[in-house]
Amino acid sequence: MKPDGVVVLDFGGQYCHLIARRVRELGVYSEILPCDATPEEIRGLETMRVKGIILSGGPASVTEENAPTIDKGILEMGLPILGLCYGHQLLAYIHGGEVRRGERREYGITYVEIDKPVGVLKGMRPIERVWMSHGDTVFKLPPEFETLAHTDISPIAAFRHRVKPLYGLQWHPEVAHTERGREMLANFLFEVCRCEANWRPEDTVEKAIREIREVVGDSRAVIAVSGGVDSTVAAVLASKALGDRLIAVHVDTGLMREGESREVAEALKRLGVNLIVVDARERFLKRLRGVVDPEEKRRIIGEEFIRVFEDEARRVGAEYLIQGTIYPDRIESGFRRYSDKIKTHHNVGGLPSKMEFKAVVEPLRDLYKDEVRRLGERLGIPASIVRRQPFPGPGLAVRIIGEVTEEKLELLRRVESIVEEEVEREGVHEGLWQYFAVLTDTKSTGVKGDERAYGWMVAVRMVESVDGMTASFYKAPWTLLERISTRITNEVPEVVRVVYDITHKPPSTIEWE
Ligand code: XMP
Repeated sequence: MKPDGVVVLDFGGQYCHLIARRVRELGVYSEILPCDATPEEIRGLETMRVKGIILSGGPASVTEENAPTIDKGILEMGLPILGLCYGHQLLAYIHGGEVRRGERREYGITYVEIDKPVGVLKGMRPIERVWMSHGDTVFKLPPEFETLAHTDISPIAAFRHRVKPLYGLQWHPEVAHTERGREMLANFLFEVCRCEANWRPEDTVEKAIREIREVVGDSRAVIAVSGGVDSTVAAVLASKALGDRLIAVHVDTGLMREGESREVAEALKRLGVNLIVVDARERFLKRLRGVVDPEEKRRIIGEEFIRVFEDEARRVGAEYLIQGTIYPDRIESGFRRYSDKIKTHHNVGGLPSKMEFKAVVEPLRDLYKDEVRRLGERLGIPASIVRRQPFPGPGLAVRIIGEVTEEKLELLRRVESIVEEEVEREGVHEGLWQYFAVLTDTKSTGVKGDERAYGWMVAVRMVESVDGMTASFYKAPWTLLERISTRITNEVPEVVRVVYDITHKPPSTIEWE
């Protein structure tokens, strides 16, 4: 049976995924479609029974030429619609309301006065704390609509149609700063759309296993496991479906952290996955010799990885490929008009485009990271893997500025272990997106004992982030930084200086290369 679900139409807002995730957290399935999706596309979704539509925020202005809008047929579908921010303005505008640039922008935490606590605002107090971020404002509504809330700047901060289930909120209920945003979304799902909370990420296990069996039949499939949570969960799922006809391949590039390859191999073997570990350390090092340009490093590693993996796939006679692609990967590379290429991301999940497989199966394609983690826990994968911080495909190679050598890799591994140990000991790691070290190409003077020392400078980076697209540097306690720096300079004698990276993303990126 299909679960009840809500479609989010994407107007390019930064919180689009957050809306879908919040809906899912309430037990209702949700997917994102481009803003110009047609009623047929929405009706034809096989993954859910569509019970409502949410229009996301976005950077455009509804009054400008060629502003993104919805297919008018969507209004005829009889489905409840909730417009958020740009969606709120659009819903008012296409019904003949007045929307224009306000005198002042409203940005950040705002207190709205709730005039009528009904529908989406049922149960709300006279004043609610919400998160606003808009320049345009709705100033007038056609007579068939009524205002539900206002602020000094926004006379119509929330509205509804008097008869039809159409709602608009100028603020962002999906953002944690909106104190009772979860209740507002729950009102829309359960009071307005009458959804049942009948979706759980775990339910996808049976479906995924069935699908893998159907596609692969009696043949063999391969999967590349990097050690990250996505590929590991996909491998365990596929192994449940295919047994020994799944061949999981872990390429040991030599660019992994301390003990990482061994840990992944042991965990997968314990879970009964048929795993081949390919020791390709020399091959990678050889190709990286003398290479200093970051993009060149990334290209070489990506290319070499495909070669090694292709050789294995051919050797074991696999006709199908399993990949750990997850939902955001698919949306970002699909319909979203994407910004400039900043780095060539090497994603083990997205690699072998030139390889000839009969089909590619992506059992996690509809799930978010936190849902994949939940599923991983259910499948018995150790927490050390399921909760692991993101790690770039090209590994430590992009954390060593300049040429990558065995000596530098060995040194950086020791430094990284110290950073990880100390952050985890402090107990702050759960709140961090990543915490790691970078080996710079700078040498500097120090003094150890009574003698002059000349050695490396390493940088420590710790960031907070929701999705890796933007990030803030972590305001780490001095005592933690002090412990890290003392241990590194004591235990890794080649290092004489430790610096802390205090840049946000943007303007920086998270990794140094
Ligand atoms: P940047 O450095 O671009 O990284 O701010 C954003 C997030 O992506 C990770 N990252 C990668 N992940 N292949 C990956 O699968 C890559 O080539 C790659 N490069 C960076 C990075 O660790 C951060 O979490």
